[in-house]
Amino acid sequence: MRFGYFDDKNREYVITTPKTPYPWINYLGSEKFFSLVSHRAGGYCFYRDARLRRLMRYRYNNVPTDVGGRYFYINDGGEVWNPSFAPTNTALDAFECRHGLGYTRITGERKGVRASLLMLVPTGHTAEVHELRIKNNTAAPKNLKVFSFIEWCLWNAYDDMTNYQRNFSTGEVEVEGGGSTLYHKTEYRERRDHFAFYHVNAKVAGFDTDRETFFGLYNDWSAPQVAGKGESSGSVASGWAPIASHGLDVALAPGEEKTFVFTLGYVENPREDKWEKPGVINKTRAHDLIQKFSQPEQVAAAMKGLADHWSNLLSNYAVESTDEKLNRTVNIWNPYQCMVTFNMSRSASYFETGIGRGMGFRDSNQDLLGFVHLVPERARERIIDIASTQFPDGSAYHQYQPLTKRGNNDVGSGFNDDPLWLIFGVAAYIRETGDYGILDEQVPYDNDPKSATTLFEHLKRSFNHVLNNLGPHGLPLIGRADWNDCLNLNCFSETPDESFQTTGNKTGRTAESVFIAGMFVGVAPDYAYLAERRGLADDAKKARAEASKMTDVVLKHGWDGEWFLRAYDFFGKKVGTKETKEAQIFIEPQGFCVMAGIGVEGGQAKKALDSVKERLDTKYGIVLNSPPYTEYHVELGEISSYPPGYKENAGIFCHNNPWIIIAETMIGRGDRAFEYWKKIAPAYLEEQSEIHRLEPYVYAQMIAGKDAVRHGEAKNSWLTGTAAWNFVAISQYLLGVRPDFDGLRIHPCLGSEIGKFTVTRKCRGAEYRIHVKNSGKSGLSGAPKLTVDGKAVSGDLVPYAKPGSTVIIDCEV
Ligand code: BGC
Ligand code: NOJ
Repeated sequence: MRFGYFDDKNREYVITTPKTPYPWINYLGSEKFFSLVSHRAGGYCFYRDARLRRLMRYRYNNVPTDVGGRYFYINDGGEVWNPSFAPTNTALDAFECRHGLGYTRITGERKGVRASLLMLVPTGHTAEVHELRIKNNTAAPKNLKVFSFIEWCLWNAYDDMTNYQRNFSTGEVEVEGGGSTLYHKTEYRERRDHFAFYHVNAKVAGFDTDRETFFGLYNDWSAPQVAGKGESSGSVASGWAPIASHGLDVALAPGEEKTFVFTLGYVENPREDKWEKPGVINKTRAHDLIQKFSQPEQVAAAMKGLADHWSNLLSNYAVESTDEKLNRTVNIWNPYQCMVTFNMSRSASYFETGIGRGMGFRDSNQDLLGFVHLVPERARERIIDIASTQFPDGSAYHQYQPLTKRGNNDVGSGFNDDPLWLIFGVAAYIRETGDYGILDEQVPYDNDPKSATTLFEHLKRSFNHVLNNLGPHGLPLIGRADWNDCLNLNCFSETPDESFQTTGNKTGRTAESVFIAGMFVGVAPDYAYLAERRGLADDAKKARAEASKMTDVVLKHGWDGEWFLRAYDFFGKKVGTKETKEAQIFIEPQGFCVMAGIGVEGGQAKKALDSVKERLDTKYGIVLNSPPYTEYHVELGEISSYPPGYKENAGIFCHNNPWIIIAETMIGRGDRAFEYWKKIAPAYLEEQSEIHRLEPYVYAQMIAGKDAVRHGEAKNSWLTGTAAWNFVAISQYLLGVRPDFDGLRIHPCLGSEIGKFTVTRKCRGAEYRIHVKNSGKSGLSGAPKLTVDGKAVSGDLVPYAKPGSTVIIDCEV
């Protein structure tokens, strides 16, 4: 069942009912000011950090789900409704929510009144703009009372959940222009130099800034007494819970429409220029911002700006094929999600509160893989930030805080895959840009400027960190965990509430990871190549030798006969073997070892992937392991704490499905690769939204596996490495257009379903138009037939052209 449809021309998903199976959200803003907005106008916005600079209060895990947002209550002759349906849930005659790239437009209609709310964060500004159009479609005049509503936060959002008694006494507001602009200046007097405001470009009939006055202490969101009465109270908050609500009298002749523009802004003042006079904030910057969005024409211009911004970004990779689901995923929604994950890491979504984790070292490096072709300069900056949190021995903080860019001591380090991801991220950046200069940047360790070395030295220490931490079989030690955060082989936890990851209570010198071994072999050629370019032939040679040694070790100690083992535990026992009853096979090493080329020649790769098909594949995607753990294993950790079929215990972890997809292309099975991809790619799941439940335009982290009660149901949409890895899989391997160090590699491997397609790729200033005739026969081993500007070339590499040029490529596979 569907709850809406794709409008590809406008690059929107159109939701046609407020009653979707879960809140379906969008993100606004792509620089410093961000918002989450659901199809019912729920959510919140923040400046850079969802914990420390959140403007609006939001209550996670609430009943009903998704309460708190930007609400407009319309009182029409005593009856109160919202164009967003929520929170009154008053029945609407028509409803539509259009989630677009960086904006959302929600339209509701009741009894001949149509109200349309456009929300966007204009590029380059620290504000959410709301344009509300109200139209009287009846033959009689209407006298409506309209009330805006947002609830302030702008104090530490964590504090707000744990120590809110303090906030009950700190709230302070200012009212300007009779109530047209409502300021929230809580804590501004002492250490904060920032404040927020909510403005409307009209004369108001009244206002409110005190929550309890607006609602009435015992009323819920659906019955604010102010809206019910049709009259604002003029309340001025003093402590408790400050809000901003404008009251508007909207008289509409038959057929008449009125437009109001609201600006919800964030302002920082220089400390010496904070006050206009004692106790009164200096509002100059707020006024400037308000001026920029006081007319609908300015909103239209901002919308045009957004559209141009996205057209430009998306033009870097575009496909035209006969499969519209493929086109919309590659051309619109997948890169869009990559931008959001790049911006947010795993901090703020409808599944992550924005007050917990900061940026993940591993996560952010992986996000780069799907983002780097959009805005390479920002990827560069991110790489330096990430590398600056590395430790001198090559290990890394697992997470760091976006605002301070400091490593997070609570979580610390010891996830032994982390260092290698830095090499993946940097290699992807250099492939895209050719900017080898980044390797010469001086980058500190643990943010200590005195310790700075070149970025290349960071990569070297990353690489060597693996070699310096090998276990009894010569495989890499796993540490607290590798990519699978829940495979905790050095934490034997029997105490409720302690962290599976950070309560490492074992020495960590025995448990080994075959997955990290695969990563190591996979990344070694890139590392060696970069070393060689720097004239470090010995390092390159050593890296290649170590990779070949590790390959042998994997084939000897990491092979179970029909698939790759997952690990050795603390006691040296195999994990992921047919010798055990549960979790005989894991997805991760099958993907990463084959991607690294291990066993491709010897036939193990094919065997491993056949085992994946046979044992892990389901109707809704590939599960992480099988059979699931049914009991808690203290020596394996969190993975065995999940009920069978969920999360890392045999859930379909969409993040690692693309590894298998890429691996399948490595042995030439494009048909199978494409089938796998379609099982988890959101656009193909639209028809089964009642089962999947989450947004049909973005990937989710997990879909419940075949052993789960709710097989096929997704959780944790938006912020997941799934976005980046699937973009890599579909754009670089299936469609087969992949930037390499010395040229664009053209090697589609998509199976036979799609006979013809064209990819337009912009890279390093040139544009490539690649027309593919696809028989579906090729694997990555057999070269395609390529002509470049009419001339036949051998191999699959097209050298980079001069910036400004257009290259026409014909490709037959
Ligand atoms: C979750 C994982 C997550 C890990 C570390 C676990 O509770 O299940 O998905 O990666 O915590 O944050
Ligand atoms: C979510 C984490 O963000 C990611 O880094 C990890 O690899 C997966 N969970 C798998 O455990």
